[in-house]
Amino acid sequence: MNLAICPGSFDPITRGHVDIIRRASKIFDKVIVLVLTNPNKKHTFPISERRRLIESALGECENIVVDSYSGLLADYAKNVGATAIVKGLRAMSDFEYEFQMALTNKKLNPALETVFLTSSAENMYLSSSMVRQVALFGGDISPFVPPEILDDVHNVLKIINQGGNE
Ligand code: PNS
Repeated sequence: MNLAICPGSFDPITRGHVDIIRRASKIFDKVIVLVLTNPNKKHTFPISERRRLIESALGECENIVVDSYSGLLADYAKNVGATAIVKGLRAMSDFEYEFQMALTNKKLNPALETVFLTSSAENMYLSSSMVRQVALFGGDISPFVPPEILDDVHNVLKIINQGGNE
């Protein structure tokens, strides 16, 4: 079985992420959407919320599961027998960082290939940080997040901004 991982911070999941995950699920037998910690970022949504939002956004999909991990992606991949990491590439600005991560993961786990899918044109500019920023200033985030999680994203951000983060 060809098992792939779509890793990320998903803080929160955007329409761009959903597009990449669904396309990956057509190429691989099974896809694990893996919520990880990016030490270079200060995450806004707690991991439990990020997982819940991903599950709501994706709904029932036969060959997609959601998981989280607090260690190295390369180790997780080894543990579950994944052969590929799938990432979306939006623009040239993503390339250097993604290339660096792909080579690092390959060194840590030589059996692991990183596969890049080009972002769909309508999602080229999308990012979780943009979603958080627009929401923070009361803007409309409906074009950026899946409709299934729109209310939840607003509610969670409201609680977090009022100081109720876990
Ligand atoms: O959505 P992001 O923040 O661009 O995803 C980056 C992420 C979470 C995939 C990356 O930071 C990661 O793999 N974190 C887990 C720790 C790890 O394995 N680091 C080494 C990869 S260079």
